[in-house]
Amino acid sequence: MQQNRWSLAGKKAVVTGGSKGIGEAIVKEFIALGADVLAVARKTEDLQQLLQQYPEGLHILAADVSTPEGRQTLIDTVQQKWDKLDILVNNVGTNIRKPATAYTSEEYDFILNTNLRSAFELCRLLHPMLVKSEQGNIINITSVAGLVHVRTGAVYGMTKAALVQLTRNLAAEWAEHNIRVNAVAPWYISTPLAQTVLQNPEYYEAVISRTPMRKIGKPEDVSAAVAFLSMPASAYTTGQCLAIDGGFTINGFHPL
Ligand SMILES: NC(=O)c1ccc[n+]([C@@H]2O[C@H](COP(=O)([O-])OP(=O)(O)OC[C@H]3O[C@@H](n4cnc5c(N)ncnc54)[C@H](OP(=O)(O)O)[C@@H]3O)[C@@H](O)[C@H]2O)c1
Repeated sequence: MQQNRWSLAGKKAVVTGGSKGIGEAIVKEFIALGADVLAVARKTEDLQQLLQQYPEGLHILAADVSTPEGRQTLIDTVQQKWDKLDILVNNVGTNIRKPATAYTSEEYDFILNTNLRSAFELCRLLHPMLVKSEQGNIINITSVAGLVHVRTGAVYGMTKAALVQLTRNLAAEWAEHNIRVNAVAPWYISTPLAQTVLQNPEYYEAVISRTPMRKIGKPEDVSAAVAFLSMPASAYTTGQCLAIDGGFTINGFHPL
């Protein structure tokens, strides 16, 4: 019984953006804990490389979840493979950093469709299969930029804050089907996405100086929390957002 509480054996999971960074770490963590995982990303090459490492337990799909067609391909694939879904991780995310006045409507649509609409629509489309699980779980990967102001650009912050509220709404609405919905909010984590800004030494120092634990997080720091929130061990936890941030969001004034 204790073993099952801390295991994902036999669980069927979808991880969007599963080929790199945080998503890749979640895929690996889930497989290590016994789940069957469908990793979704746009580029086939990265997915194929992952499949070579994990021939058992991993399924891959090249699809763009920011589009209705990509999402439909994902739904069709899940329905063909499995008769239920236990875990959906909405991890896909992107950003364009600009002052609020500089965004074009195309850029706004791109960020909203990728970060927010994909998650909302996948939750709804996969709802019937999560109901069939009888212990379904959704984990939304948001950001500390959805909790406090971070210099990421307003549109990214808006999408991440909306994901936190989506988490709360669906948690309450779908509790009757025993579907739990939680979120994790990372601060800087060493991934290809974060590397684009962390490679600037001044910016890196500024990040470290505001982080009580004085380090950048690892993808595995996030995947461990996602695994916990997906397990029976967290069976009474829903609607929550867990910051994975080395203390960044509780750091009111902590001069060096
Ligand atoms: N890294 C951080 O410091 C940090 C901090 C806070 C929050 N986050 C959040 O954590 C999540 C993952 O970030 P990351 O840093 O791991 O990102 P990443 O390194 O850029 O990886 C993104 C993953 O998503 C896939 N992807 C992107 N757009 C997609 C789309 N439209 N359809 C399907 N797949 C798509 C990418 O593969 P393809 O390019 O092949 O599609 C890749 O597998 C994001 O939601 C991000 O906002 C990250």
